[in-house]
Amino acid sequence: MQLAHRRILLGVSGGIAAYKSCELVRRLRDLGAEVRVVMTEGATHFVSPTTFQALSGESVRVSLWDEQAEMAMGHIELARWAERIIIAPASADLMARLAHGFANDLLTTLCLASPAPLYVAPAMNQQMWAHPAVQENVDILRRRGVHLLGPASGDQACGDIGSGRMLEPLELREALVASFGSAVLHGLKVVVSAGPTYEDIDPVRFIGNRSSGRMGFAVAEAAAQAGAEVTLVAGPVGLATPPGVVRRVDVRTAADMHAAVLAAAAKADIYVGAAAVGDYRPSVVASHKLKKHDGAGLILELAENPDILTSLSAQTVHPFLVGFAAETHDVASYAQDKLQRKGLDMIAANQVGDGLGFEAADNALHLYWAGGSVELPRASKTVLAHQLVAQVAQRYKAVRQ
Ligand code: C5P
Repeated sequence: MQLAHRRILLGVSGGIAAYKSCELVRRLRDLGAEVRVVMTEGATHFVSPTTFQALSGESVRVSLWDEQAEMAMGHIELARWAERIIIAPASADLMARLAHGFANDLLTTLCLASPAPLYVAPAMNQQMWAHPAVQENVDILRRRGVHLLGPASGDQACGDIGSGRMLEPLELREALVASFGSAVLHGLKVVVSAGPTYEDIDPVRFIGNRSSGRMGFAVAEAAAQAGAEVTLVAGPVGLATPPGVVRRVDVRTAADMHAAVLAAAAKADIYVGAAAVGDYRPSVVASHKLKKHDGAGLILELAENPDILTSLSAQTVHPFLVGFAAETHDVASYAQDKLQRKGLDMIAANQVGDGLGFEAADNALHLYWAGGSVELPRASKTVLAHQLVAQVAQRYKAVRQ
């Protein structure tokens, strides 16, 4: 769904076109968006807040001074919640207040308090729209980066014909969909593994690794934002599930992860193995805490864990496979070797150690596939994840569609 889990704040100001915004709420929700509606006092004379409440499934806010609503979600929180603000219809009065930075009601206050891009769909009588006062305000808003949607020309509710009609709900929705960029993984099921695995030695000790899970979580979030239905298989990490991820499976050991990924991958189009899976596990897990024997060393016998990616690539039908290669040296040659050996479609290689990699917020990746490669220079894991997802989508389409 193109707007899956997108958080859209719809502002409704006082104009007869407010009835069309009811339809807009429906159409936004059809594409998976979460919609919260804020009305000006004037808007409530055209459509009842109850109507928007029923359509959005959320309580509707009108006043800045509603203590109950402020306790549930304060206006600053609401301003931060929104990924996009769209005001439809935007009256001449609302645009004047926006142009001059007023914060004399909840909606205008939210517009000042939110970093979200602002979309404004004017609707008014053609004579009002043509008035220099209105046009000057429109110019101010445009210069400030506000996106004007419409108005259209045609018959008006007042009987006039001319410019000032609000765009149709589907046209407004189209603009919002476009504002989020293309959903390059739309309709695809993606499984992402992330984090370390813990291999138990006894009830209190384990062998683990320093993976934070952040790269994999960022990939899961970016894939969800690109329209995929994402399952995240997570090792032991203290990270919140990213927005838009539809299913999270928490695992502890490499064997658990192997089972969980294989089950999820059976129906998936793409698997991104960003987890740092333990290569070995103790052959025997002691049922009691191992005792220290002074002066004597301890030898642990380790058994090899099955390789998840190799198991998947051995299947006749399997998802498009993306592996990671975290290496401390000779990154390129190890990565290309791993690409072939594990039967992958793409590998994302990165250098670890010297402050880079596992625990760092930044990373740099070099992607390889049969016959090509691309370098993604050092950036935050979030930015890299989006770039990686774009590359995966491109390669997936080249070889699978
Ligand atoms: O061989 P190495 O562990 O360096 O390869 C890393 C890549 O292989 C990662 O994508 C990791 O998720 C995957 N892997 C796996 N199963 C394992 C070990 C690693 O799928 N048992």
